[in-house]
Amino acid sequence: MTDDLFGLAEESDLRPETLAPGAVVLRGFARGDSAALVAALREVSAEAPFRHMSTPGGFRMSVAMTNCGELGWTSDASGYRYTALDPDTGRRWPRMPTSFLRLAQAAALQAGFPGFVPDACLVNRYEPGAKLSLHQDKDERDFTQPIVSVSLGIPAIFLFGGEKRAETPRRILLTHGDVVVWGGPARQRYHGVMPLKSGEHPLVGTRRINLTFRKAG
Ligand code: SIN
Ligand code: FE2
Repeated sequence: MTDDLFGLAEESDLRPETLAPGAVVLRGFARGDSAALVAALREVSAEAPFRHMSTPGGFRMSVAMTNCGELGWTSDASGYRYTALDPDTGRRWPRMPTSFLRLAQAAALQAGFPGFVPDACLVNRYEPGAKLSLHQDKDERDFTQPIVSVSLGIPAIFLFGGEKRAETPRRILLTHGDVVVWGGPARQRYHGVMPLKSGEHPLVGTRRINLTFRKAG
């Protein structure tokens, strides 16, 4: 493509797109690493298989989830929380692959959050129709640390709202390799994902994968 010929596409990829103070989209930031990320994810999900968790209210989540790292996010009838053990296997969550950790730290740094050391990576798998309602991430102990969210596979519309649920969210199309980072004044912003449209991605297939890195403990 001509853009690539002149280096323009790569250059624009490096320019963070600001969503709000403390929140940026790093377009294509994970694209170069994505084959390694997907390979590492296969090992994670072989150890800790994807599952559909239930909300405290008893609804089955449409997004299938697993975790890696010291802590994993879980939900069931007794609430949302982080656990050191996978409730489905009784074992520790798989360790966070080095490729995951390095990417999350580089993205946080690029977004203006140096020294990010995530201890939790939630892996969300969206099949067509799956969605995530507007919510705040508030099960972590330390809100000074940002959230790093990596999109892989087919595109999704990410909703980025305000500090109140009623605030109309912005709609941001996220494609394979895009990374969103929000922290500081944006840490408690509502966010979610619109129902996924069908599609196919050569590496990831007919789904979207999202890796969400947090310092939970
Ligand atoms: C999340 O809020 O945990 C995930 C957001 C996303 O899938 O982009
Ligand atoms: Fe979230």
